[in-house]
Amino acid sequence: MGNSPGIKMDKFIIEGGKSLRGDVYISGAKNAALPLMVASLLAPGRTVLKNVPLLNDVLFLEKVLQHLGVKTHHENHTLVLDVPDTFHTEAPYDLVRKMRASIYVLGPMLARMKKACVSIPGGCTIGTRPIDLHLKGMERLGARITTEHGYIKARTKKLAGGEVFLSGTFGPSVGATCNVMMAAVLAQGTTIIREASQEPEVAELALFLNRMGAKITGIGSKTLTITGVNQLCPTEYSVIPDRIEAGTFITAAAITRGKVSVHNCQAAHLRAVIDKLKETGLPLQCEGNTIHVDATNYIPEPVDITTSAYPGFPTDMQAQMTSLLCFARGVSHVRDTIYPERFIHIQELLRMGANIQMADNMAAVTGVKKLSGAPVMASDLRASATLVLAALAARGESAILRIYHIDRGYEKIEEKLQKLGARIQRQQ
Ligand code: UD1
Repeated sequence: MGNSPGIKMDKFIIEGGKSLRGDVYISGAKNAALPLMVASLLAPGRTVLKNVPLLNDVLFLEKVLQHLGVKTHHENHTLVLDVPDTFHTEAPYDLVRKMRASIYVLGPMLARMKKACVSIPGGCTIGTRPIDLHLKGMERLGARITTEHGYIKARTKKLAGGEVFLSGTFGPSVGATCNVMMAAVLAQGTTIIREASQEPEVAELALFLNRMGAKITGIGSKTLTITGVNQLCPTEYSVIPDRIEAGTFITAAAITRGKVSVHNCQAAHLRAVIDKLKETGLPLQCEGNTIHVDATNYIPEPVDITTSAYPGFPTDMQAQMTSLLCFARGVSHVRDTIYPERFIHIQELLRMGANIQMADNMAAVTGVKKLSGAPVMASDLRASATLVLAALAARGESAILRIYHIDRGYEKIEEKLQKLGARIQRQQ
């Protein structure tokens, strides 16, 4: 999303060409923590979330919840959310525009307070990002919805279970599945969500809700069945590791021809990424919660990538893979079916000497022997990570501007990279 007042315009200065070596520990998943934080609204009392990553997106969402009346308290990676018996039902533009996932409050507001007034989130550099599926789902459960003056206004006398089909032009929606699930757990009767997202973060939300007393079956599949209950109880839960952060560090090891052990990750959540990296010839080994990468003598073979919903190749790893393929021994093709225009990073990679042609929303990436450091501009979260990877592998110095994007989703990335030997500094 766009820049916001109060966000520091730090930059990274990276001196490339150093192979990464050592151990890195993956933080909790941003995209799992955010819906769990919002789901706390479904039960008055103290929810305790462990392994919560310390990220700007988490802090932004905390502000939204505080605005609604939730008391929050952080102790390292544990977040305590104290939810009052009743809470405010307005999420204003100023808060929502900083954090698209604020739209998640719609479901719990309707479920508990029977009304909601939530600013419509804007688009961002990765696409238009509509919310029609969220609204369709709420309407199926009996909410009356109007949109006026940039706000969604929703009311219901009582939510009632129904059948909801949640796939749109670009496939299933993670956000809509989470939102509808949070509304349905307290609805009267049974809700069936068809074409639900199967992402691990969606499954985690379902498991968390069940821990609170919800009745959800079909977790991890395309069909979720939710039998409404009268009330839920607050609980304690630990957030799963961030599969995208893990994938990014594996790619960092690969692109710098390094030797890195990536700890605290769940390889099962990374199957499509691991499979693609193996296809490029990357030697990697999974051992428990650790993935060992030894890219000492590695030059990637070209591969074709098409992103799709989980268990397919994640759109959130598309840009990072593109930077790796800049060094491949031939031509690779990258297509994003979820966000067909998510290619803003390409322009910056070209400035570093990459050879990439765009045609019909497909990037044809011809491998080059080297990239050269340059000043580049980060445009969104994953694009920023891509530029960091490219800069780590490039010859000479790069300056990456607008890294507030990366602080939204990667906890202390420069410290983790420094521990692996990278020459990266944050400058204000
Ligand atoms: C989530 C992730 C994001 C990831 C994306 C796709 C979080 C906080 N964010 O975003 O990192 O890139 O999934 O894996 O978990 N769509 C509609 N109508 C809707 C909703 C979505 O057409 O009502 C479209 C979107 O524009 C997109 C596709 O469906 O093309 C998937 O979007 P969705 O899964 O909803 O993404 P988010 O939940 O916003």
